[in-house]
Amino acid sequence: MKIDILTLFPNMFDGFLNESIIKRARDKNQVEINVYNIRDYSTNKHKKVDDYGFGGGRGMVLMPQPIFDAVESLKTDDSYVILMTPQGEKYNQKMAYTLKDKKHIIIICGHYEGFDERIRSLADIEISIGDYVLTGGEIPSMVITDSIVRLLDGVITKESYELESFNDELLDYPVYTKPVDFRGMKVPEVLLSGHHKNINEWRHNEQIKRTQARRPDLLEKR
Ligand code: ADE
Repeated sequence: MKIDILTLFPNMFDGFLNESIIKRARDKNQVEINVYNIRDYSTNKHKKVDDYGFGGGRGMVLMPQPIFDAVESLKTDDSYVILMTPQGEKYNQKMAYTLKDKKHIIIICGHYEGFDERIRSLADIEISIGDYVLTGGEIPSMVITDSIVRLLDGVITKESYELESFNDELLDYPVYTKPVDFRGMKVPEVLLSGHHKNINEWRHNEQIKRTQARRPDLLEKR
C-alpha cells in the first residue's frame, strides 16, 4: 500500500512518520508514505498557492492549479483520492477497514479559510474526522493514515485489534496488569482464575455494560 499526502506543511509530518509503529511499518516496507508540498506544483513564478475568494468575505482560498497538477502527476488507475474537510463523511473504523484494501491512496489536506470548490471534483471521497474545525487537513490526514496502517498485514498482531473497540460496534473490555492490588484497587478475581470460558464471558459482559453506559448509540446500531 502506498499513501501520498499533499500538504502545504510537510514538516508537520516529521514526528508522525518517524516514530513508533508508523516508522516501523515504513522501515519494513509494509507501507510507503510520501509527503508532497503542494507549493512545489505551483506554476506561478512566486509559487503562489492561494488567492482572495471571488465575492469577498473570506480570507485566502487554495487555488485549483497546484492541487490538480499534483494529483494528476501521482494518480494511476489504482488510486483513491481523499479530500480532508469538515464537510466530509464522518470517519469511523468501518471506513478504515475499507481503506486498508486500497492499493494507492492520495490524501489532499485543505488549509487556510478554504479551497476552491473545483478541487472537490478530484476526490473519490471527502472525509471529516469529527464535528469540529481544525486549522487544516494535516492532523486529520494523520488520523486516517494511522488508522489504516495499523490494520495492514503484520504491522501489529491481529489479536491487538480483533477484539478492540468499535469492531462489532462494542467498546473494549477493561484490562489489567501487575500488581493484583494497587492502592486497594483490585484486579477482578475472574481474570486470575485461568478459566478461559469465564474470562471470555466476563469480558463480553463488560463490553456490553460499558457500551450501554458510554455509547448507547452503538448498541442501537447493532
Ligand atoms: N479540516 C479541518 N477540520 C477538519 C475535520 N474535522 N476533518 C477533516 N478535515 C478537516
